[in-house]
Amino acid sequence: MIVVIDGPAGSGKSSTAKAVADRLGIQYLDSGALYRAVTLVYIKSNLNRTTFFDQLKSIKISFRYIDSFFHVYINSEEVSQEIRTMNVSDKVSEVASMPEVSAYVNRLMNDAVKHDEYIADGRDLGTAVFPNAAMKFFMIAELETRAKRRLLELKSQGSNVTLEQILLNISERDQKDSSRKADPLRKADDAIEIDTSSFIFEEQVGFISEKIRPLVKSKTK
Ligand code: DC
Repeated sequence: MIVVIDGPAGSGKSSTAKAVADRLGIQYLDSGALYRAVTLVYIKSNLNRTTFFDQLKSIKISFRYIDSFFHVYINSEEVSQEIRTMNVSDKVSEVASMPEVSAYVNRLMNDAVKHDEYIADGRDLGTAVFPNAAMKFFMIAELETRAKRRLLELKSQGSNVTLEQILLNISERDQKDSSRKADPLRKADDAIEIDTSSFIFEEQVGFISEKIRPLVKSKTK
C-alpha cells in the first residue's frame, strides 16, 4: 500500500508524512532525500556527467526510517546530514531533471514499497511514480511561509543560512521543479489539496491519518 503527498519545497510534506506514518505505524519514504543522495554523488564526481553516470551504475543507495528519522546511505556510509547542506540544495533540481536520475530513484522506490505499507512525499509521486497510489495529497503554502519553515529546520541543525538565501533557493527550485520537461511538479487530478498556510499542524496530521486509516492493514493502527 502506498499513499503519496506531493507539493513544493517547504510546504510541510515531510513533517506531516512522518507524523502520519508514526501515528498509523507505517513506513515513511522521503523521495527528495534520495534525489539529494544522488546529487551528492554528482557533486563528488566533480560535476562530470560521464563519471557520474558510471558511478550511478555501481553505487548502492539505501534508506531506513527509524524513530522518526529518515536515514540515507551511499554504499554503507550514512549521508543523512550531508544531503541537507545548501551545496546539495543548490544542485538537486538540476540533477533531478536528468532522466537517468529519475529512472534510478523511481526504480529504488518502486522496489522498496513492494514489501510494506508506505506514505511517501515528493514532487511527482502522484502523477508519475505511483499513479495508482491508494490515496494522494497535494500540499501547498505561500513562499514566505515555506521559507520560514525551512529556516527554522536548518537553524535547529546548526546552519547559519539566511532567510534571503532560502527564499532564493526555494523560488528557484519551484521554478525548475514545475517547468522541467519530464514529470514536473503538478497536482494529480485525483489528489486532495491541502493548503497548509491555513491548517494547524496537528489538524492536518489528523485529517490525513483518518483518511488513510481504513486502508492500513498492519501494526499499531
Ligand atoms: O523534498 P526536497 O526539497 O528534499 O527535494 C529535493 C529536490 O528533489 C526537489 O527540489 C526536486 C527533487 N525531487 C523530485 O524531482 N521528485 C521527487 N519526487 C522528490 C524530489
